[in-house]
Amino acid sequence: MSDSFDAMDAEFDTVAAWTAEVVAGLALPDRIPAGCRGSGSPGALHWLLDHLQPQAQETFLDCGGGIGGPAAFAARETGVRPLLTDPERGACKAARSLFGLAALQAGSQLPIATGAIGAGWSLGVLCTVDDQPAYLAEIRRVLRPEARFGMIVYCAAHSGDLRLEPPEGNAFPTVEALERLLAEASLRVLSSGWTDHFAAFPANWEDVMATVQAELECHHRDDPRWKTAEEQSSKMGALLGAGEVRGKMLVLRPV
Ligand SMILES: C[S@@+](CC[C@H](N)C(=O)[O-])C[C@H]1O[C@@H](n2cnc3c(N)ncnc32)[C@H](O)[C@@H]1O
Repeated sequence: MSDSFDAMDAEFDTVAAWTAEVVAGLALPDRIPAGCRGSGSPGALHWLLDHLQPQAQETFLDCGGGIGGPAAFAARETGVRPLLTDPERGACKAARSLFGLAALQAGSQLPIATGAIGAGWSLGVLCTVDDQPAYLAEIRRVLRPEARFGMIVYCAAHSGDLRLEPPEGNAFPTVEALERLLAEASLRVLSSGWTDHFAAFPANWEDVMATVQAELECHHRDDPRWKTAEEQSSKMGALLGAGEVRGKMLVLRPV
């Protein structure tokens, strides 16, 4: 097992499970802000949903859905029925227990029939995936011909080395490299934008996130896995703050 796998495991499996435990014990006004890990602000999620226009009761795939905040948000705002996939057991368990979501433990091979999905998204996932072309090809495989699929992809602002250390296990394509990857996967861009064009988080989201963070710190601050996960997320925050990496929002359709 490589160090980079350990770091991702700490962040996306162990801390996911801890978050589910902590949230279950708190009387939060809304769990969704605690369940969004990498998906940008509610403004970005609304932008995606407005462009995707999913139908109420339609199956909505959230690929790499983490602990389920974005999928629960999509269900609440549009009435879709989310189907979440994530390779991490802790994330899938958290999505089920926190939001009652259907969650399949799966990575870049989806246990979903070819052409079965009409709408969905994958948020903040591509940079964490080992084989990015295979991941996009698999998403393309499960989409219906008329499907719409949203993504948030964290892109490097320039080619070559980033000026700050990236989180372990992450690889950020430039916008040009992303365009090539999407074209090679037969996915066409219908609309795009940047997550930083939206205000970050409303105060009520910030409050929930801060409450959960404080509780997690209180329980786990001495655990090396917590420290590793925190380092991962602060490296990501520094990259975004410095403009070295930006979140690109995309609405795609198969070609
Ligand atoms: C930054 S988190 C984003 C989680 C969620 N989309 C959100 O916005 O809250 C990245 C997620 O991608 C998952 N992931 C990593 N490799 C993957 C793969 N090959 N296929 C699907 N998901 C993957 C991780 O387990 C993790 O939950």
